[in-house]
Amino acid sequence: MTASPTILKLGGSVLTEKTDTPTPKPAAISRCAREITSFITSTPPAGVDGPLILIHGAGSFGHPQAKEHGSPDGFTNFGIIEIHRAVTSLNDLVIEALVENGVPAAAVHPFGCMVAENGRIAEMETAQIGMMLARGIVPVLHGDVVMDRKTGASIISGDQLAAYLVVRLKAARVGLGTAVDGVLADGAVVPLITRANFESVRPHIQGSEGTDVTGGMLGKVLELLAIEIDINSYIFNASKENVIAGFLSGGEPGTRITRIAGTTETTEMTGAAHE
Ligand SMILES: Nc1ncnc2c1ncn2[C@@H]1O[C@H](COP(=O)(O)OP(=O)(O)OP(=O)(O)O)[C@@H](O)[C@H]1O
Ligand SMILES: [Mg+2]
Repeated sequence: MTASPTILKLGGSVLTEKTDTPTPKPAAISRCAREITSFITSTPPAGVDGPLILIHGAGSFGHPQAKEHGSPDGFTNFGIIEIHRAVTSLNDLVIEALVENGVPAAAVHPFGCMVAENGRIAEMETAQIGMMLARGIVPVLHGDVVMDRKTGASIISGDQLAAYLVVRLKAARVGLGTAVDGVLADGAVVPLITRANFESVRPHIQGSEGTDVTGGMLGKVLELLAIEIDINSYIFNASKENVIAGFLSGGEPGTRITRIAGTTETTEMTGAAHE
C-alpha cells in the first residue's frame, strides 16, 4: 500500500430508520454512495490522498436483534446468525448503491475474519484489505457479531472497528458520520475533544435515542479518544448533503477528536481545503 488510507464510517442512524425492525433509508444510502463516488473518481485536492476504507453501522439491521438475543448466558446460535444476516443485508444495499455508481466495492464481513475477547477485537486478518486497496477496490466493513474467546460471541461496533483499523492500517484520518452535527453540549457542537477536556464534556454525552447496544455517542467518543496514535478523528452529520464529500476532500466537519491537543496538524494550519 502506498498512501495512508482514509477511514469513513457511516452510522446506522444515517442509512436506516432506527426502528425495531430493519428499515433502510434508500435515498440516504444512494446519496452517501454518490458523495463517495465523486471522491473516488476525482483528483484529490493537495494534502488529501490515499484509498478509502468504508465501514457502516447496523442501525435497525442489528441493534434490535442484538438486544433481543443478548442474554446473561450469551447469544444462541440462531441469535448470532440472525444478527449477522440482518447487518449483511444492509451491507448488500450499501455495496449495491456503490457499484451502481461505478465504485468497485466489496464486502469484508468481520464475522469471517475476526476473533474478539470480552467484546474487544483480539485478532483480525487484514492482508486482504491491503491488497484490495492496492488495486482500487473499496472494502466495505460493518459492525457485526463475531466469535469471542471468552463470551462465545459478542458485538463489535463499527466505531470500535474504525478505531482499530486506524492503528492497524496506519490511516491518515478517520470520520464517523452520524445523524447529528457532532458531539453536542447545550445544543452547540463541541469543536474539539481531547483527553484533557473530556471530563468537562462528558456530562453532556449520553448513549443513543434509538436502540443502540454499543454505547451511542459516548461509545464513539470513548473509542476515538482511546486511539494510541496522534490522529485527527471527526464526528459529523452524514445525514446532511455534502458533509461526507467535504470530509473526504480534506474538510473538518463537526467535532474533532484527538488524544492530545497540539500534536496533530489540522487542515486549518496547513491551509489545505476546508469545509
Ligand atoms: N452529546 C451528544 N451529542 C450528540 N448526540 C448525542 C449526545 N449524547 C447522546 N447522543 C445520541 O447519540 C446518537 C448517535 O449515536 P448512534 O449510535 O445512535 O448513531 P450511529 O452510530 O449513527 O448508529 P449505529 O450505531 O447504528 O451505527 C445521537 O443520535 C444522539 O441520540
Ligand atoms: Mg452506534
